[in-house]
Amino acid sequence: MNTENQHIALVTGATGGLGTHICKRLSEDGYIVCANYRSEEKAQEWKKKMEAEGYQFYLYKADVCDYDAVEQMIKAIEQDHGVVDILVNNAGITKDGIFKKMSKENWQDVIATNLTSVFNCCRHVINQMIDQNYGRIVNISSVNGQRAQFGQVNYAAAKAGMHGITKTLAIEVANKGITVNTISPGYVATDMVMAVPEEVRNKIIAGIPVGRLGGTGEIAHLVSFLAARDTAFITGANYAINGGQHVY
Ligand code: CAA
Repeated sequence: MNTENQHIALVTGATGGLGTHICKRLSEDGYIVCANYRSEEKAQEWKKKMEAEGYQFYLYKADVCDYDAVEQMIKAIEQDHGVVDILVNNAGITKDGIFKKMSKENWQDVIATNLTSVFNCCRHVINQMIDQNYGRIVNISSVNGQRAQFGQVNYAAAKAGMHGITKTLAIEVANKGITVNTISPGYVATDMVMAVPEEVRNKIIAGIPVGRLGGTGEIAHLVSFLAARDTAFITGANYAINGGQHVY
């Protein structure tokens, strides 16, 4: 928390489809929003666009796969604003392909970006959260970490692993004012989902009982809920938000 008692939120992968909406929503909620990114060119354009829309975000470059780079980023945020109160582990990629053809690189890249990043970011904020006896960690997983999706062995493993981190970290820090939860979105209208071949995507949409893709704002709304101070009794939970595609 900074000197004006404003909570500080860090969103990884901020410039992507979900990340953008999460940043906007947390900013509207009154948090100072630190936006992590990897690509300089995209981030500068994004910041300009956000400013034109009236949002002020603080950009922090770091490859979330890189433990040391994340440590530097967290230190810089602490220097500029204070301790990270809310961490949203949102950075993620897909490198889909059937398992028999999956390369070692496509396995490693997805595990590093989607899962090791969660370790890296949580590890570098957790002690300060413990010291201040407050924190909110929200991990953005996926419906495909809960159920099977043809062509996503790497992604499903990472997203299921993410919830494994959530559950165990949640109980380790439960008595320190810190909550750790997972959100598992289904298919949401982002570039990632639009990259799925149209024919395959249409079949997927046909299998969503609500009858459409999710909206990024709908996911951001749930992040906002879990980031709030008064959700202190919710921890180690997984929130499915998938239009009824997978009920369990
Ligand atoms: N179920 C069963 N069999 C399937 C199948 C399915 N869903 N999809 C493909 N197959 C079979 C094909 O019939 C084919 O069989 P034969 O070899 O016997 O002919 C074989 O698998 C290979 O199929 P393709 O030629 O289509 O293989 P490909 O390598 O070109 O593409 C794929 C495979 C990459 C998995 C492609 O189908 C695809 O992109 N699927 C979508 C994956 C997906 O949903 N990704 C989600 C991305 S968004 C996201 O991840 C966000 C989130 O959190 C929800």
